[in-house]
Amino acid sequence: MERQIHIEPVTRIEGHGKITVFLDSAGDVRDAQFHVTELRGFEQFCVGRTMWEMPGLTARICGICPVSHILASAKACDAILAVRIPETAQLLRRLMNLAQLVQSHALSFFYLSAPDFLLGWDCDPATRNVVGLIAARPDLARKGIRLRAFGQEAIDRLGGKRIHPAWAVPGGVNQALSQEDRAWMTERLPEARTTIQETLALFKSAFGDTKERDVLGDYPSLYMGLVRQDGAWEHYEGVLRIVDAKGRVVREHNPAQYAEIIQEASEPWTYLKFPYYQPMGYPEGMYRVGPLGRINACDRFDTPLAQAELEEFRAQSGGRSGRVFDYHYARLIEILAAIEEMAELLADDRITSPAIRAEAGVNAREGVGVHEAPRGTLIHHYWVDQNGIIEKLNLIVSTGHNNLAMNRAIREIAKIYIKKGKVSEGILNRIEGGIRAYDPCLSCSVHAVGRMPLRVEIVNAQGEVEATLSRD
Ligand code: MG
Ligand code: NI
Repeated sequence: MERQIHIEPVTRIEGHGKITVFLDSAGDVRDAQFHVTELRGFEQFCVGRTMWEMPGLTARICGICPVSHILASAKACDAILAVRIPETAQLLRRLMNLAQLVQSHALSFFYLSAPDFLLGWDCDPATRNVVGLIAARPDLARKGIRLRAFGQEAIDRLGGKRIHPAWAVPGGVNQALSQEDRAWMTERLPEARTTIQETLALFKSAFGDTKERDVLGDYPSLYMGLVRQDGAWEHYEGVLRIVDAKGRVVREHNPAQYAEIIQEASEPWTYLKFPYYQPMGYPEGMYRVGPLGRINACDRFDTPLAQAELEEFRAQSGGRSGRVFDYHYARLIEILAAIEEMAELLADDRITSPAIRAEAGVNAREGVGVHEAPRGTLIHHYWVDQNGIIEKLNLIVSTGHNNLAMNRAIREIAKIYIKKGKVSEGILNRIEGGIRAYDPCLSCSVHAVGRMPLRVEIVNAQGEVEATLSRD
């Protein structure tokens, strides 16, 4: 007789979903599925609105990453205006994207995942959270909270409003950076850099050899991310590069033509689509995005501290890493890179120029905006009429790209930790940990609003739910 194990809610991820583990007659894992069960149709209800509203509207897709949608949307609109935005607007958008990367990665690491590393995978779930972290490691928790607050405050000062800043607009941005805000950010960068360097040192000394680094899943895949023309790590523009498990370049493509290489499959049991690399087919064309995707895709970092970390990371991984756990490591390296680039941008006197917006009308009937959100490549694609009214749109959100890989991760972990039908709380947390490493944003994934819990269930060969595991 076959059984299924369902886990819900999956805690400490952004959003809502459900995991089902399918057992065979011996009680061993046959398969696992990560369901995303909520859908709100931004791709439908934005039709008929004007392109000028799109950055503000699509920011409402998600309370967690509005900044990412605003930037992708503004870029798609730039393409419809057919303008080259002022260089200061370009620098400011980069600065905003980096601030978002710092705050989002800090949230993922310190609030959502560090409790597993510091308090133990088997400790009481009631204390395995940021409150428990504050009690056990107040100094580290305080630094992590301050690092995230720095990113949030930088977004606030750039955009004028922390949540849903209507700041990036078609053609540029709508508010220049003041000398006061430039100085505020500049003065806080050294503390942020020290925090992330200390955290990297702790991560490498204390967490690198844990068993979980291997058991959260280690499997080959393609990796995707934007890189600069010269192959350096990039987050705002550049070429879309796909590499194989050894880091060999499989494809470099114009991001505006993403549809030539990325297609989306659907499965009846989830609202989250399954993007795949089209030339390899479905599901063989599985690729990964986000921190590990980007650092595996690039040749190098352009800033010295992040580059030194990348060299160390690659030396110990023997090249590219396929380990799910290394998403955490990559996330920390990216925070360091972001802080280094923020320092460069803030030192550039062009950053406070008031020339921040190109004015134009509708000059193209189609526009694609692609950039690297914290969780991975974010794609907004709009088709408009001659008045700029949206006729059609396609969104491929960061979490979606990792859908195949997340399903693979939970199957790998479940196979190791569930034998002959035996399951324990610590095992469930490891399955969730595999998902958490990808830091999925389920609000975005289904273009839905708000946060909801997530579950795990066990079902038998007759399709009967044998157990439902949830912790709320
Ligand atoms: Mg879509
Ligand atoms: Ni989101």
